[in-house]
Amino acid sequence: MPPDRTEPEQTTLDVHTAIYLGREKKMATKLAALIVLAAFLGGPPACEGDIICFNGWLRLPIQDPRLCPPGSRSRINGRTRALVPVPRPSGLGLGLGYYNNRSSRTSYCPRAEGIVRDAVSKAVAAQPGIGAGLIRLFFHDCFVRGCDASVLLTTTNSNNRDTEREGNPNKNSLRGLEVIDAAKAKIEAACPGRVSCADIVAFAARDASSILSNRRINIRMSGGRYDGRESFANETDQLPGPFSGATVLLDNFKAKGLTSEEMVTLSGAHTIGRARCAFFSSRFSEMDPAFAAKLKAQCNDDDTKVDQEHVTPEVLDKHYYQDVIDGKALFTSDAVLNSAETIKQVTENANKAGAWERKFERAMENLGKIGIKTKADKGAEIRKVCWKVNN
Ligand code: HEM
Repeated sequence: MPPDRTEPEQTTLDVHTAIYLGREKKMATKLAALIVLAAFLGGPPACEGDIICFNGWLRLPIQDPRLCPPGSRSRINGRTRALVPVPRPSGLGLGLGYYNNRSSRTSYCPRAEGIVRDAVSKAVAAQPGIGAGLIRLFFHDCFVRGCDASVLLTTTNSNNRDTEREGNPNKNSLRGLEVIDAAKAKIEAACPGRVSCADIVAFAARDASSILSNRRINIRMSGGRYDGRESFANETDQLPGPFSGATVLLDNFKAKGLTSEEMVTLSGAHTIGRARCAFFSSRFSEMDPAFAAKLKAQCNDDDTKVDQEHVTPEVLDKHYYQDVIDGKALFTSDAVLNSAETIKQVTENANKAGAWERKFERAMENLGKIGIKTKADKGAEIRKVCWKVNN
């Protein structure tokens, strides 16, 4: 069953879409202001981080602290959402070398991981940014419906067309999808019906991390995930956004059973790849002035993309953390890691050789355990083609 699509949620999506597409921005701003006003007058506060309204992908034209008192919590459909502690992802059912087990007739495919590695190596050699895209793809898959390749679907079990790929964090932004499709096609030719798309996404993120870190990051990525059959654009609201503040970020990760330290650690992936100017041009004045001037010169318009890190933009290293300290972080969600709660970790990651790399390995392994589906789960399958469910 698709989730409820209530009026307010739809309105918000429309606002997001308008912003995302870079069209009708004035209308979107007015609408957002109206939503804030309505929420203010009509009930409990609508906060930045509110699941329905402002998940951090929309920069509010009004930032009124009265709307978001400290410790306030998200609201869903008008009801206050208490943050219930979520257990750590267990990863039960996953195993290292999952496809190398000769005794399993349904999953034996010893070439699978090698095929993914080859596909990723070729793609990253041609364009390192694809590696960044693959790491992000894994994050966006696992945070929404768990690591079940729902992010790849264009055709779902319920014939829903508005899939995660259409969600604001993903639309016109995901990279590396063709690498997953190419690897899947080869794997299906070698051993049909055995290797899930969710595992291919996870292995690809592991391999991209290894290549882009010059083999300094070695993630022990288990296999055994099954693919899901549903995907909904509005569920991408569970992803934090570039305008998210510290509390929202921590809440978003906590809601997936991840810790504040893992949030800080995984944010270090912003040391590679690129970002659109729309997501940070409002905060030039908060940045290191020389850095801001350099960015301003690069940002012709909102859709221009710039490197997220400027010293070693194609290397997955700890440089991001020094940028956070030096006021050279792009997004609000990066800059707020300077806050009291997280600065200790940022400083340690920036200064202690090897510390961040080891933490990143463990955090990626845990990310890969979120909400996994196994054979026993209803509606779980091994897709034949990664962008559509089996018939
Ligand atoms: C902590 C909250 C996070 C926020 C708010 C966030 C937000 C964003 C945004 C807005 C972009 C630019 C997208 C665009 O302009 O199209 C981006 C890029 C990226 N993000 Fe994040 N992200 C977060 C966490 C993560 C995590 C946990 C990972 C991976 C472990 C990650 C990996 C990346 C990568 C590699 C890119 C560059 C992608 C590319 O060049 O194609 N991010 N992120």
